[in-house]
Amino acid sequence: MPTSKPPKTLHIGESGLRKGLTSYGDKEFSLFLRKAFIKGAGYTDSALDRPVVGIANTGSAYNPCHGNAPQLIEAVKRGVMLAGGLPMDFPNMSIHESFSSPTSMYLRNLMAMETEELIRAQPMDAVVLIGGCDKTVPAQLMGAASAGLPAIQLITGSMLTGSHRGNRVGACTDCRRYWAQFRANAIDSDEKDEVNQQLVPSVGTCSVMGTASTMACIAEALGMTVPGGASPPAVTAERMRIAEETGARAVQMAIDGLTIDRILTADAFENAWRVLLAIGGSTNGIVHLAALAGRVGLDLDLAALDRMGRSTPVLLDLKPSGQHYMEDFHHAGGMATLLHQLKPLLRLNALTVNGRTLGENIQATGLPHAQTVVRPLDQPIYPQGGIAVLQGNLAPGGAIIKQSAADPVLMEHEGRAVVFENSEDLAQRIDRDDLDVNADDILVLKNIGPKGAPGMPEAGYMPIPQKLARAGVKDMVRISDGRMSGTAFGTIVLHVTPESAMDGPLAHVQTGDRIRLSVAQRRLDWLVSDEELQRRRQAQPVVTPSATRGYRQLFLQHVTQADQGVDFDFLRHPDHKGHTPSG
Ligand code: FES
Repeated sequence: MPTSKPPKTLHIGESGLRKGLTSYGDKEFSLFLRKAFIKGAGYTDSALDRPVVGIANTGSAYNPCHGNAPQLIEAVKRGVMLAGGLPMDFPNMSIHESFSSPTSMYLRNLMAMETEELIRAQPMDAVVLIGGCDKTVPAQLMGAASAGLPAIQLITGSMLTGSHRGNRVGACTDCRRYWAQFRANAIDSDEKDEVNQQLVPSVGTCSVMGTASTMACIAEALGMTVPGGASPPAVTAERMRIAEETGARAVQMAIDGLTIDRILTADAFENAWRVLLAIGGSTNGIVHLAALAGRVGLDLDLAALDRMGRSTPVLLDLKPSGQHYMEDFHHAGGMATLLHQLKPLLRLNALTVNGRTLGENIQATGLPHAQTVVRPLDQPIYPQGGIAVLQGNLAPGGAIIKQSAADPVLMEHEGRAVVFENSEDLAQRIDRDDLDVNADDILVLKNIGPKGAPGMPEAGYMPIPQKLARAGVKDMVRISDGRMSGTAFGTIVLHVTPESAMDGPLAHVQTGDRIRLSVAQRRLDWLVSDEELQRRRQAQPVVTPSATRGYRQLFLQHVTQADQGVDFDFLRHPDHKGHTPSG
């Protein structure tokens, strides 16, 4: 229950319900009117004098990854009130991967803008951001970074795992595995429908190291969650206790004026990149972290990220790079165990939302217990970071590959390009028996970049052509300007920059061209001369996509490329404060 008096150190004249008054030309009248309305909801003056904690509610019937939002909100409110604050939950846009057309990424910036403006527009002294499904956490962090208030992230938590005919299964790595088996006629339609009942056995986010789990770990590494906030599954009591603690912490952040710029420092980003690499995290983590860094004036340095990758082994044995699931990670101690192992590589002075440094938080958790999910630094699951950055004439602005989830044999490969002009072309031809394709060819897909699709969909995980899948082919080199789900695996080159819709060289690749991939040398070379590229450019100029109205027009005019996080150019911080990572 609320204490009898509001906490003392908050500057009450500029805070709580008195913040951000509606413009009627008379401030006292604005406050008078606001109080009249809120009292209509049954609030007393005592309640209204307390620090106000906004709670961004992303619960939605369209978002089962946030299916525990009502319980989380109740627990956050309890925490806020126990600490003497006034909780005010408000609806925040919700994005689910499977319920967003054309792709969730098209909507991330819209959600970031909405989050920012809701934080600005409504009176609150701190905000709790409830996010989980892939795009929601980055969108909320981006919006909160621009809004500048004290902000704390609450993760919804991962779903449980299921069981199919004695095999443990979880979304979405196993969704893709069983679908590939169905396409190869290895399982029949009945079994496909049977496993469909088991892949998502509870509410919560995907149970492997997909983008949602990656962003949860990154949020904790950035210092934006309470310690231990990344890993408790959605349906557990522990998740609810984290929620209560988050609410209480938000009140103290409001009192202390612990604004988000003090948390999202260059050191915090160093820690986030390290963690992204060490967990074998989703390639989408690069895009989202680049966008978030852009909000605080830091530019992504892809070459430095690659150098960091060479000195950061993958320690986490989770699908799709390894074998375990998120609940196993949690039972192994979660981020506390990982951070303990990574400690020599971390910036320990980075401040976190609980007012202590990352180093102090690691110290407070003590030594981890014996477990097999998080490896020690000298016994990694993969010797280098999960993600490598490629350079070459096919990607002058860089490209990436998740090497920890790729076939080692194919990572050094030269082959003939088999080109698809866009997603529709791929859908129409990939499974035709007369498609001219062999197992050692390289599949190339154009026009799925930020502007091309638009929205840079997760279509980079091209299916193996059905006739090759039936013959037992499991992996091929695939190249595109799109993204892929963090739950996917294969020798897949992504984020080719500039994208084909912006007249990047990728736009001019033709079937029959030779392409050479060398992950060891970090090269992606298209064996076509500059003169031939110019000839093709003149013969078939690229028309950049445009729209005549609405959000689509805004998106197409202002979206940036993958190396700038696919954020809108006008939302990036106006000042350039440096590069990230630093090395
Ligand atoms: Fe929401 Fe995977 S679909 S986390």
